[in-house]
Order: sequence, then structure tokens, then C-alpha cells
Amino acid sequence: MHLGVNIDHIATLRQARRTIYPDPVAAVALCLAGGANGITAHLREDRRHIVDDDMHCLAAMPGLHLNMEMAASNEMVSICCQLAPAASCLVPEKREELTTEGGLDVVAHRVRLQSVVGRLSDAGCRVSMFIDPDPAQVAASHAIGAPVVELHTGHYANLSGAAQQEELKRIEAAARQAADLGLIVHAGHGLTLENTPAMVAIREIEGLNIGHAIVADAVFKGLEQAVRDFVELMRR
Ligand code: PXP
Repeated sequence: MHLGVNIDHIATLRQARRTIYPDPVAAVALCLAGGANGITAHLREDRRHIVDDDMHCLAAMPGLHLNMEMAASNEMVSICCQLAPAASCLVPEKREELTTEGGLDVVAHRVRLQSVVGRLSDAGCRVSMFIDPDPAQVAASHAIGAPVVELHTGHYANLSGAAQQEELKRIEAAARQAADLGLIVHAGHGLTLENTPAMVAIREIEGLNIGHAIVADAVFKGLEQAVRDFVELMRR
């Protein structure tokens, strides 16, 4: 199973102070050393975390499997065609949202998305549609020629008990439907060490994109050493 680490949240920390650290690009080597298969980065219209320079540096890293998350806007499509990352994932984007809140409505925007998928595929990107686990969205993604779907696990992550089990069934069914249609199936959003095992158990899911929980865990797993480094320096 492929793990793409989403490094947006490292950039969020940098942009909070408009400093040059922490550098999300410098995190790539650590993610790969930890066993990640690739890196995911979302260039948002408002550049609230990842900025154009980050994308240029990432795209220039030899051998890196880069997945560019992006809105299907003309601006993003032309940037992506220039950078030609290995993969791109089309997501809906609203300025006011804290994070990507729902899946892309491929059914409603079929004509426009088909042309975007065509342009990105011509540039050499394997295009993924970030969709809710909904049979109509899976069918529409297949119909417009997208080779990959990424199932939105955000609702599953936010639910608990019976409601979470229901959502899990929707994800399993969507994964099966997509795989039967010949699509590559990914999943992501809101995944943590606690809720990821159920995704790993779905045989059709070939890849996960995880960001927030990894960066959040890294704070606690690395905080002690970070304090120790300052104490050591002050002692000296
Ligand atoms: N996949 C997509 C399409 C996303 O938009 C995001 C969030 O940027 C993720 C995966 C990762 O979600 P999280 O940061 O909650 O792990």
C-alpha cells in the first residue's frame, strides 16, 4: 500500500509566522526515510500553506513521487502542466473552508472536469478525483477518464459508533465499485493511527494520503529532543 505524506501542515506552521522555517521541502527526506512512498502537497489559490516556490522545489527533486493537490482552475491546471508532477489530485476548494470539506462533484461538473483530466493527462500526470464514497461520483469519475479516485474519509473520521460503521460500508462499496471499473483506489483525509487500520483492511485501496495526524504526532514525538537541543545549547 502506497503512503503519500501530505506536507501542507508543515507549511502552515511556517506561514503562521511568515518565516522560512519549518521548510516543508526539507521534510521530504525524513518522510521518505520513514517509509513514505511519495509526497502530497496542495497548492491553494490563496497560498495559505504551500507556495509556488515549494512546488517548484518539490517538482525538481529527482525520483520523488509528487502528488499535486489542486482545484480544477485554469491557474492551477497551467501550473501543474508546467511542473508535470507524477500525479495530481483534483479537489474542491472554497476560500472560507479550514480544510477540504467535501468531495468533488464530478457529476455536476463532468464536462469541465473531463477537459481538465485530458489536459493534465497529456502533461504526464496520473489524475485522481477526490470524491465522496458515492456510486454516482465513482461512475462519473470513470466516465470522464480519470484513472484514479481518492475516496474522502473525512466524514468517516469525524463519526463514531454505528454511524462510523455505516460510513465505512459506503467506503468499502465505493472502493469495490471503482476497482471493478478498473480504477486505482486511494483514500484520505482525517486518518489517524486509530482509524487507519479499517482503511488498510479494504483490499481495493492501494494508497492513502495522510498529513495532519502525522504532523501532529511529530510534534509530540519530537518535542522532547527539540527542548533538549536548546537546553544543551544554553548550558554550553
Ligand atoms: N487527501 C486530500 C485530497 C486532502 O485534501 C487532504 C487534506 O489536505 C488529505 C488527503 C490529507 O488529510 P489529512 O491532513 O487530514 O490527513
